[in-house]
Amino acid sequence: MTSWNKEIEDLRQIINQFEVKDASSLEAFRIAFLGTKGKLKDVMQLMKEVPNEEKKIFGQAVNELKSFTESLFENYKTNLGTSSNPKSLNIDFWATATKQNLGVRHPISLVRNEIIQIFSKIGFVVAEGPEIEDDWHNFTALNTPKDHPARDMQDTFFLTEDKEFLLRTHTSSAQIRAMEHQNLPLRILTPGRVFRNETISARAHCTFHQVEGLYIDEGVSFADLKQCIYYFAKEMFGSENVRFRPSFFPFTEPSAEIDISCFICNQKGCNVCKKSGWVEIGGSGMVDPNVLKNCKLDSNKYSGFAFGMGIERIAMLKYQINDIRLFWQNDIRFLNQFKAAF
Ligand code: DAH
Repeated sequence: MTSWNKEIEDLRQIINQFEVKDASSLEAFRIAFLGTKGKLKDVMQLMKEVPNEEKKIFGQAVNELKSFTESLFENYKTNLGTSSNPKSLNIDFWATATKQNLGVRHPISLVRNEIIQIFSKIGFVVAEGPEIEDDWHNFTALNTPKDHPARDMQDTFFLTEDKEFLLRTHTSSAQIRAMEHQNLPLRILTPGRVFRNETISARAHCTFHQVEGLYIDEGVSFADLKQCIYYFAKEMFGSENVRFRPSFFPFTEPSAEIDISCFICNQKGCNVCKKSGWVEIGGSGMVDPNVLKNCKLDSNKYSGFAFGMGIERIAMLKYQINDIRLFWQNDIRFLNQFKAAF
């Protein structure tokens, strides 16, 4: 065997033994043997040393090795499915793209957004307050001084030993911030998270959401409050059948609980309305003059109404959800049911 013959056969063996198992080893194969600085080019250089009478047969041998290597390369490529030629790929380019699973809005966000939308049509704008509050905004300015028994209505998470800082127990604290910092007339809506030290059950949670409404101007009356709530009930639940039940809140006088007629059983009596035909959606009332004074507003000139509603409560009614804990479990079987909502 001539020396060039041996070189060609050795190279053939190396080519044959080269392991191609993935796209990167395929590329390494191409570079090593077929590339511009590859082994086949090196072998070609031997031509200079080959005696004239052998040049032809040498050329044929090298060409044969070259086409052998090229077809080996093509074979590997096809098997790995990385060919640039679509015909040799096992891919259906016309197949429908994989459906991306988009997330859905949480029912609390849906209801909050809907409430904002409804009230924004009658001029209410969103004003937010902090979740960590001080005693003044959460209690004292809302006509609930330190020794007031109404403080016990809400089990508070205090953050400091002197009880000066706490997690807000209601969004009413944002009323005070708005009255202190914004110009009159004032028409605000405050959706947000509130916290109470309550035992978690199907009906109660230590964290939930409220939305607070406040309207302060000259000559605002209880009739305005009623019209505003009638409008809301109609838009939200499709029913204007609302009743105002006398109640007590330190920051409103008079105060009223808002009930709407049970649209689930049409007042025939069901579990949701506890057979009463009515379901409570929040509290309301005329802002107590003491609250206006605490915010340095002239209570002889201005009056206003306020209301506060639980967003979970409204969502539970709207979607007929019977356990408040579902809102926090992030179970996609629950959340996916709100896909069709907006
Ligand atoms: N802050 C009250 C609560 O959490 C709800 C409430 C009642 C808000 C009457 C108001 C109101 O603005 O006027 O129970």
